[in-house]
Amino acid sequence: MEIIHLSAECYPIAKVGGLGDVVGALPKYQNKLGHVAKVVMPAYQTKFMQENEFEVVYDGWGKLGFRDFTVRIFREKTNKLGFDLFLVHIAGLLDRPQVYGYHDDTERFLAYQIAVLDWIAQWEHRPDVVHCHDHHTGLVPFMMAYCLQFRSLSQIPTVLTIHNAQYQGQFGWDKLHYIPAFDLWKSGQLDWKGSINPLASAIKCAWRVTTVSPSYLDEISFKANGLEDLLAQERGKSAGILNGIDNEVWNPQTDPMLEKKFTLRTVDAGKKINKAALCAVFNLDPEKPLFTFIGRLVGEKGADLLPDIFYNALLTYNKEINVLVLGSGDPQVEGRLSHLKEAFPGNYNVYIGYNEQLSHQIYAAADFLLMPSRVEPCGLNQMYALRYGTIPIVRRIGGLKDTVIDIGDGGFGICHDQTSVWDVGHAIGRAYELYSDEKKVKEIRKFMMQLDHSWDRAAQQYIDLYQI
Ligand code: ADP
Ligand code: GLC
Repeated sequence: MEIIHLSAECYPIAKVGGLGDVVGALPKYQNKLGHVAKVVMPAYQTKFMQENEFEVVYDGWGKLGFRDFTVRIFREKTNKLGFDLFLVHIAGLLDRPQVYGYHDDTERFLAYQIAVLDWIAQWEHRPDVVHCHDHHTGLVPFMMAYCLQFRSLSQIPTVLTIHNAQYQGQFGWDKLHYIPAFDLWKSGQLDWKGSINPLASAIKCAWRVTTVSPSYLDEISFKANGLEDLLAQERGKSAGILNGIDNEVWNPQTDPMLEKKFTLRTVDAGKKINKAALCAVFNLDPEKPLFTFIGRLVGEKGADLLPDIFYNALLTYNKEINVLVLGSGDPQVEGRLSHLKEAFPGNYNVYIGYNEQLSHQIYAAADFLLMPSRVEPCGLNQMYALRYGTIPIVRRIGGLKDTVIDIGDGGFGICHDQTSVWDVGHAIGRAYELYSDEKKVKEIRKFMMQLDHSWDRAAQQYIDLYQI
């Protein structure tokens, strides 16, 4: 089958969170299964664009309301990523350093979607599936089905994967003229509660809808930032497919970013060396258990509670623990987490910002990884932690519920039911106790590292879904 993935992120070209990881891995694993999966994404002004070689495969222009824009599509030449990568360059809109966060993101992603469809409409053949990821590509199913200029694409099945229903990309009806001409009586397919809502439109128009874990599919019928009813209504065409991880990128045996690589056999010694190196950089004590949080500092991740959680834990255990946080997001949370450094020098540290290499080093060095998420459609961090022998402490929600089993139930992680300072504090207490049982910790590490969360399984599940 030929599968075209459309996404705003794709690792290693541009990654803000897990969406990038997924789109950088799933196509590769689909290709390994003998299919032809390609990625078509915006050409941002990133290091990847400067450091790699491309050929031009398309020169054209598009229309966004009354504005014309020129389009150039590049193909990455070496195919080293394990899939064909196409980058859509639109001068003045996409060629900026950041993926998101501009005042005209609506226009940027609409232009991208229109340009991609203009290009595909010119192909001599038709792909078997167009697979859209999140709201940035959410108007594609509508445009393929109803816009006159894309009529030749209307028979191609479209799949929407919802990575996070919190973000929907809504905009006002005053921007309707951005969308290429269609029969106006189809407008209802764009609308949700009085706005043009790309995610809602994709849920309505896509042939199939998936979420990134089975539990999240159950949860969004009750909590999905206003889309609950729609999701419940479209449940018949929806499926929950648990994400995998890219075992080639996230492999402690070969990971070039680590101080010391390790295998199942050498994990205890290996983690010790990585921990010592990390603790030296962040002024922490390598003899004490190291708790970490890696991620976006937003309410969804429970990040607002982290300052209180860590303050209490460091007091309760009389500084017998270490904490290291890596993240960025809400400036208030960033500020409060930074302030804690003054109260607990030598036991607590934080790196505010995004640092891919440091994230690998922390997964390899830490003893425990916290994920007190309020919402977690899948979560990849816990799966990386498992592979690097770091015990996850997670709230039982979404993909966390589907991937982590509590030690009390014969599992390997520590689970709690609520995102509250008390619940997480209690979980940290259980972890502290567990840490004193060195034999048990070593057993758990070895067990976790053998769990298979590779994309092999999920890549096949998507292929099965396309063929139903
Ligand atoms: P989400 O996509 O909701 O942010 P996921 O758990 O799916 O959550 O994926 C997060 C990804 O982003 C992981 O690869 C994680 O290691 C990475 N990540 C998050 N914050 C940072 C950061 N500050 N520095 C480096 N990597 C980060
Ligand atoms: C989203 C979700 C996260 C998921 C990721 C990849 O960003 O918040 O839970 O793991 O997408 O699907």
